[in-house]
Amino acid sequence: MDYNSATRLLKEHNQLHVLKFYDTLSKEEQNSLLSQIESLDFSIIESYNKHKSEESNIRPVSALQLNTIEQNKKQYEERGIKAIQAGDLALVLLAGGQGTRLGFDGPKGTLNVGRTKELYIFQLLIEHTLDVVEQSGTWIHFYIMTNDKNYDATASFFKEHNYFGYNPDYIHFFKQEMVPSVDYNGKIYLEAPGQICLSPNGNGGWFSSLCKAGYLQLLLDTNTKYINVFSVDNVLQRIADPVFLGAILTEGYASGGKVVKKAYPEEKVGVLCTNNGKPYIVEYYELSDEMRNELDENGDYAYNYGVTLNYIFPVDLLMKIMNTEMPLHIVEKAIPHIDEEGTFIKPDKPNGYKFETLALDMIAYMNTCLPFEVEREKEFAPIKNATGTDSIETAQALLIKNGYTL
Ligand code: UTP
Repeated sequence: MDYNSATRLLKEHNQLHVLKFYDTLSKEEQNSLLSQIESLDFSIIESYNKHKSEESNIRPVSALQLNTIEQNKKQYEERGIKAIQAGDLALVLLAGGQGTRLGFDGPKGTLNVGRTKELYIFQLLIEHTLDVVEQSGTWIHFYIMTNDKNYDATASFFKEHNYFGYNPDYIHFFKQEMVPSVDYNGKIYLEAPGQICLSPNGNGGWFSSLCKAGYLQLLLDTNTKYINVFSVDNVLQRIADPVFLGAILTEGYASGGKVVKKAYPEEKVGVLCTNNGKPYIVEYYELSDEMRNELDENGDYAYNYGVTLNYIFPVDLLMKIMNTEMPLHIVEKAIPHIDEEGTFIKPDKPNGYKFETLALDMIAYMNTCLPFEVEREKEFAPIKNATGTDSIETAQALLIKNGYTL
């Protein structure tokens, strides 16, 4: 693309400021900026003017609760272990986020939560998986999604630490795509005079990114039937949990999500339910007072189980929906950028929007989704913030409670 076409295109989309520093750039930087402009998807950034219109009809779904799971644990576990031994399960760790709330410099998984020794988030996730590898006597393919910016740091961290004892032949890194970030008026931010501000496109595109990276063939060659996809930040979650997989298979569900009992009805978590008969996660702000206080036949709150970003999805359905356009979410974030004078600014509070698709929206395309209850104190210790709720400190306290030495 040449300068004149770029000008025309940007003018058409009201983004001409992107060329503001063009004359100050070297020839190479100019060419780089022109090719960034050429590959911009304006439909994404313009979507923030559109609104969703589909009528919703949200209904609660009963979770498979702790007491039932305990009663059937042996049977579920045996079924899950058999499936793992047959090579049916692979794992996808979502580590492409930017962790802006935590404000840690580097991939979130490289954070050390130890106090007297090194204990990294990635290490904990690998160690949890090694428990199942040992129990089943089977290596499980472990895919790790990063973004463009943290790929090298993530891959070299694993290498430096000898993959924390995991078999490197079973660890596969891949990158997700990036999209531009905008200010509150929809104007694209620049990160440097010749660099458009790009951020990861959310965690919803993980399966298509996995396939674009060439791993569809490996999934097919290894006859993988299910994928357990999970976030990087919950340091206590059980991964490749045979009881969870076995419960989905035994109870005849297409997919499943690990949920925890809400601490109180107003807690700000998404709840697994149905919308127009399809699995759906209702966000806390979509729940009316009436729904929030609705009781089920046992007198418990009907919308009582929050999702934890740990799902099992069937590969055949994932392949079917691979090219489906997922709903786009507009998320307010703190976006480092240069101002009109070209000065670099790192804001400590939100200053614009990023565009993301979300893994949780995938469940709408599954025929059924089992809400599988896990004990909050034993399996839910997310690290989202530097201090306060869901912080390093709260996660450390829960790790200690569960017998870890920090
Ligand atoms: P979060 O919603 O917590 O987002 O991601 P984040 O970017 O990590 O953190 P904040 O909101 O900026 O503070 C939940 C999970 O999804 C992954 C994250 O790495 C985390 O495991 N994720 C998020 C991606 O893999 N890609 C993305 O584009 C966004």
